[in-house]
Amino acid sequence: MEVVIVEDRCAGADLVADAICRLAMKGSCVLGLATGSTPEAVYDELARRAFTGRLDTSGIKAFLLDEYTGLPADHEASFTEVIRRQVVERLGLGPEAVLGPNGLASDLESEAKRYDASIAASGGVDLQLLGIGSDGHIGFNEPGSSLGSRTRIKTLNPATVSDNSRFFEGVESRVPKHVLTQGIGTILEARHLILMAWGKAKAHAVAACVEGPITSMVPASALQLHPHTTVVVDEAAAQHLRLSDLYRATYAAKPSWQRI
Ligand code: F6R
Repeated sequence: MEVVIVEDRCAGADLVADAICRLAMKGSCVLGLATGSTPEAVYDELARRAFTGRLDTSGIKAFLLDEYTGLPADHEASFTEVIRRQVVERLGLGPEAVLGPNGLASDLESEAKRYDASIAASGGVDLQLLGIGSDGHIGFNEPGSSLGSRTRIKTLNPATVSDNSRFFEGVESRVPKHVLTQGIGTILEARHLILMAWGKAKAHAVAACVEGPITSMVPASALQLHPHTTVVVDEAAAQHLRLSDLYRATYAAKPSWQRI
């Protein structure tokens, strides 16, 4: 696991956008997209680069990590809609380029299987962006999730409902209680994972993810099993990392040809 401590989220977004631009230059790439506040700075930076011709978007395809169940597709907080506004429109991607699980499917279990199959049929995700919940979740794999899980229906932790109520006018009862989420096993199949975290509210979860034991109590700790995980955090989110000096020294000594 590589840990990169950056000054602030803009510096982090720049670094992550560089990695995406390099992939996109190869002609075709499959991204895994997270929603929420964390990746917004990356999406802003990608939009800037697409606008100024520094990002070739022609070969980009993407899969969403998760979706609420029961929300109309055009609800402003549905992840399909969020990604349409933040990524699809601004990068000028075609309607078929970005796919997500259908939270309105009549048979959610079949939909989950179909979604995993469609990711596999694409050749798999090259680069998966991840945020982390304050309870250590990735996707919506809440504490206790199987580390081998596949895309499936999950019930949100009340703490996550409370965190996400800010996208529902602050009203917790409006937040759907169930989601379709890629499983931890599904996420771990992506070729490169980039987990980002900004701010002190994520500091304990980041420390548990990077330096704690691998346990389903902290679903993000499963990333320690992946051969190519990059954790990009700002100073505040890094504040509980015991080995922060080592991470800084390692990154500073990295050969310039070796990128994240
Ligand atoms: C969103 C997702 C979640 C978020 C996490 C952090 O697609 O899968 O795991 O990444 O809840 O959310 P923010 O970034 O809003 O703090």
